[in-house]
Amino acid sequence: MKRMLISGGNKLTGTISIGGAKNSAVALLPAAILGGVSTIKNVPHISDVNALIDILELLNCQTKLEGHELTIDARHLKNTLIPHKYSNRLRASYYFMGALLGREKYVEIYIPGGCNIGARPIDMHIDGFKALGANIKIDGDKYILEAQKLVGTDIYLRFQSVGATINIMLAAVYAEGTTIIHNAAEEAEIVNIADFLNAMGAKITGVGTNTITIKGVKTLTGAEISVLPDRIEAGTYIILGALIGENLCIKNIIPKHIEALTSKLSEMGAALTIKPHEVIISATKNLKPCNIKTLVYPGFATDIGQPMSVLLTQANGTSLFEETIWENRMGHVPSLNKMGANIKVNGMSAIIEGPTKLHGSEVIATDLRGGAALVLAGLTADGTTIITDVEHILRGYEDIVNKLTQVGAKIELEEI
Ligand code: EPU
Repeated sequence: MKRMLISGGNKLTGTISIGGAKNSAVALLPAAILGGVSTIKNVPHISDVNALIDILELLNCQTKLEGHELTIDARHLKNTLIPHKYSNRLRASYYFMGALLGREKYVEIYIPGGCNIGARPIDMHIDGFKALGANIKIDGDKYILEAQKLVGTDIYLRFQSVGATINIMLAAVYAEGTTIIHNAAEEAEIVNIADFLNAMGAKITGVGTNTITIKGVKTLTGAEISVLPDRIEAGTYIILGALIGENLCIKNIIPKHIEALTSKLSEMGAALTIKPHEVIISATKNLKPCNIKTLVYPGFATDIGQPMSVLLTQANGTSLFEETIWENRMGHVPSLNKMGANIKVNGMSAIIEGPTKLHGSEVIATDLRGGAALVLAGLTADGTTIITDVEHILRGYEDIVNKLTQVGAKIELEEI
């Protein structure tokens, strides 16, 4: 167990370099079992990636991680039950459902884990697999998926689910005939996964729109792909720059992927300059309040809502933060209020009165992005903040302590 100690109030200046996207990497690793020997570059060093490497090894895939480059040899895969202690370490373990169903037509896996941000059902994944011809048995917490063969079909998602879109793609690449996913999610990460699968020999078109067409193939080879930059890590540090930056440069980003955030920041009067691969941002005193409503891509990302709520505590007036994707995105609010914020939660919405002075406190990270919000609050606050349950944060933010220390933050991790 670790805790994080933050001594707040320092201005941050210098450059933070953004790593590979967690939510892309966690799908690319399972996707690699569909081919032979693959290389994934720009892999972030986060605990979710380690958990997936352990599952790949369990399935007898050979892996070699050198720096940020991961080689996966899936030629000698042995299909085996993925036990609870492996699947439960992260949400994305469920991508082995689609990938193994595609390749092996048989999967035994326990339920996935992940942040406690809502009920997180997987009915759309399961319905998609069934539509492709799989039989699904649920035995307590264990799923057994099997099919004689998979046959392409039209699948209509009732919501633009990232996970269901990717999982169905992973299975459908090996289906006979054509699968069309209607109302598919449009996230940039999905394009990254499809680029990898297409480099392996898949025939996927329409990614980045809400209609994805997958023509099934008989074999896929290994391929090379680079994980796209993490738009949520980028967004988190850009918000930090708006709080306490002094020409803080966030580099290795794709500005288009974070436009919903940067346009809100401009609307608030934040001092930011957007360049082709970086954003430079400084704190300003007169931030205007604003209303945030999280939406599917390209709307304002739900994963940025909690960090953004910290900035809204420093705006001059009343802001509304409305979450529409997850029922439980307000777990960080009691901690922010303990630090001096004035936030009233009503179901999935919060009214944030600003500006309020934040002071250091002992707080608990209840989930990944809520934990990141507390890091931002701790760095902004006067005095010392102690964050416990930081394992949530380490699941998704690569090298967070070093990256922040390099720009002048006083932050450390301590074993407890
Ligand atoms: N949903 C269902 N049934 C399903 C699938 C989803 O009802 O079968 C509902 C969910 O309960 C939720 C909504 O649909 O209300 C959206 O879920 P989605 O499937 O899009 O989310 P996900 O794939 O489980 C990914 C990211 C999340 C991110 C969401 C939305 C990964 C591993 N996780 O989750 O990231 O919030 O998309 O963008 O890619 C995070 O990184 O902190 C994180 C939670």
